[in-house]
Formats: sequence, structure tokens, C-alpha cells
Amino acid sequence: MRNMTCIEDLRQLAHRKVPRAFIDYAEAGSYAEQTLAANRADLERIKLRQRILFDVSQRTTKTTILGEPATMPLALAPIGLCGMQHGDGEILACRAAQAAGIPFTLSTMSICSIEDVAAAVDKPFWFQLYVMKDRGFIRALIERAAAAKCSALVLTVDLQVIGQRHNDIRNGMTVPPRVRLKNVVDIATKPAWALGILRGKRKTFGNIAGHYPGMESVTVLSKWISEQFDATLNWKDVEWIKSLWPGKLILKGLLDVEDARIAAKTGAAAIVVSNHGGRQLDGALSSISVLPPVVEAVGSDLEVMFDGGIRSGQDIARVLALGARSCMSGRAYIYGLGAGGQAGVARAIEIMRNELSTTMALMGVTKVSDIDRRVIAAM
Ligand SMILES: Cc1cc2nc3c(=O)[nH]c(=O)nc-3n(C[C@H](O)[C@H](O)[C@H](O)COP(=O)(O)O)c2cc1C
Repeated sequence: MRNMTCIEDLRQLAHRKVPRAFIDYAEAGSYAEQTLAANRADLERIKLRQRILFDVSQRTTKTTILGEPATMPLALAPIGLCGMQHGDGEILACRAAQAAGIPFTLSTMSICSIEDVAAAVDKPFWFQLYVMKDRGFIRALIERAAAAKCSALVLTVDLQVIGQRHNDIRNGMTVPPRVRLKNVVDIATKPAWALGILRGKRKTFGNIAGHYPGMESVTVLSKWISEQFDATLNWKDVEWIKSLWPGKLILKGLLDVEDARIAAKTGAAAIVVSNHGGRQLDGALSSISVLPPVVEAVGSDLEVMFDGGIRSGQDIARVLALGARSCMSGRAYIYGLGAGGQAGVARAIEIMRNELSTTMALMGVTKVSDIDRRVIAAM
């Protein structure tokens, strides 16, 4: 992985190693992908201020996230079907994150289950919750996360219904994930991927298989979600979930100041300003454009985290400058996973940490807490 110089290198390698249907799934935004594009375009528009002749020899990217020490202000975001980018993908990504000293979030829609990951790593990780209609099952999932000593519950609040991703329909993305005849030729050219999946612990959604009888038969993913996910989910349910979860609660997927104000009253420890990586409401604002007003409104009440479009340490500096305490990476680490398993995720984190450290030096900053509006160039 040493010859991988930037996240784009990992992306290109992942495209060569991972079958089309799963790469398309990772890359997709919803509908016309306008919000997906806006996430990147609006981040790139923020220009950093070059400062000179400060002593930057003793600098550190260390910080705290929800009171816990972290080597940089970054956590790995929950990614459904992570274990289809690489066999045992969730375990490998969690190990890489923990070795690098940052949090990992396991998705409800993961391939390896909560228990699989807990048995394979030695430190706590975060668990992301999607709420389905069967509330008894949701209660059991929360109890399983608590039993596995997960250190935070990340409740995703922006996916009561699913935004359409055209390629997932064209590729026939199914529950459980299934290799279709038309993909066989593609997969034949990706033997390392196929071997990894064959050797992996599981081939379907580890947290929910067994509970949903219909899962033995194949259903289109979007159809399954629209049948099982609870479209009635509302703020009262957040109270219910909070009453069941003994630890820190993070609400992920806010994009509006009014919603952030309500969230701040729930007792959640943090919110993640996020539009699900441009995969839900197409035409919504980019994550970065709503970060400043959200921080202004609730930044002193809870920790404001950010995701959407982070591809470099420079991007991390940009979002900290606009008030985020830390951020999450989705696709950047998924490219690493597809490119090289655990080593690839480790490399993705290392690349972004080195970039952040160099960026800090070139901005004349030595501590993460000193990255604020002053590092942004007036345009
Ligand atoms: C392939 C893929 C799968 C995702 N699955 C989930 C999920 O299961 N749960 C969730 O809360 N968010 C999910 N997300 C959203 C991410 O957690 C995160 O918000 C998003 O990827 C951030 O944008 P970025 O990819 O530009 O970093 C997914 C995103 C992608 C790209």
C-alpha cells in the first residue's frame, strides 16, 4: 500500500479489484446525484490561508471525540454491505481504525454481525442503528450492542425511506447480496475479491439474517428497506431509544438548524451534520453549507460532527475551520478496504492524517483546537 499516495489512488485500485455492482453501490448518490456533487464542490470552494514562519515543529493531530482520546478528529462512518467490498470487511476496517486510534462505526446493515466484530477486536466500537417496524427486534439489537460493549449508539435519522440509486436497480442489488449471472464474467476477473468473500465469515446481513424469515429468499434491496424500515420514526422514538441505551447517543443525518435545535434537547451527546453522502434527498444542501449555522445554533450544547465529501486531510481542516469538532469518513475508507483490506483502510487513515498534519504546518497551526475561522482565506 506504500505506493498509494492519496485517496484517489485507493479509489482507482478499488475500482480494479471490486466487482462493478458493489463499486457502483459505494459510489452512488441518489437520483441525479446533485447533492453528492455539491458535497465535494462546496468543500473545494473553501480556501485555506497560508501562513509562514511559525514554529510548527511540535504539532499534533490528537484530539478527543466524545471525551475519548483520538489520534485525529476522524471516525469511520457506518457503511452497509461493508463486508461485500472485501471479505470480513467490517472486522478489517474496525481493526485498522483501532490500530490507528480512531473510532469505527458498525452499520445495522453490515455483513459481519455485532458479535462477529466484538469477538475479533479488543476495543469497543460504535454501533449504528436503523429503526425497523419490529420494535421488539430493535430493542434486542440495542441490547446486543450494549452486551458487546459498544461505546456509542449512532442513530441514523435520515433514512426512513430510501432515496433511489439508479445503478443499484440496474445491477439488481438484492437482500441478501447475490451474485447474478450477468456479473459472473466481472467477478471472474476479480479472483482475490471472490476468494476473500468465500473465506469470509458471512455472505448476508449478519445482524438481521435469521430474524427476518423472508431473507432466505432474494428481494431487491430498496424494496426490502421500504417494507421493513419504519417510516413512522419520529422524535418520540428518539426518547424511547435513549431510554433503552445506557451509553452515549449520536444522532446522524441532520441538515437543518431547526432539527438541530430539537436534537440538542434530546440529551444526545453529538449530532452528525450529514446528507448520507448524497444518497438520500437529492437537491438538498451540501453538508458543508449547513455546518456553520448548525454549529452557531447548537455547538455549545453538544458535539457537532460532520460527514459528506471528506477525501483528504485538507478537507478535514476545512470542516474543523467551520466549527465541526470531528468528522466521519465513508467512501474514502471504503476505497481503501476494496483496494487492500485492512492495510488499505490503514493507509487511507494514514494518508489523511499525514495530509492534515502537513496542512496544519502550512497554515501555521500546531493543535487541532487552533483550527478555526482564522485559517480560512478571505476570498
Ligand atoms: C456505500 C455506502 C453505504 C452506507 N451505508 C450506511 C449505513 O448503513 N448507515 C448509515 O447511517 N449511513 C450509511 N452511509 C452513509 C455514511 O455513513 C456517510 O454518511 C457518508 O458515506 C459520508 O459521505 P462520504 O462517503 O462522502 O464520506 C453509507 C454510505 C455509503 C457510501
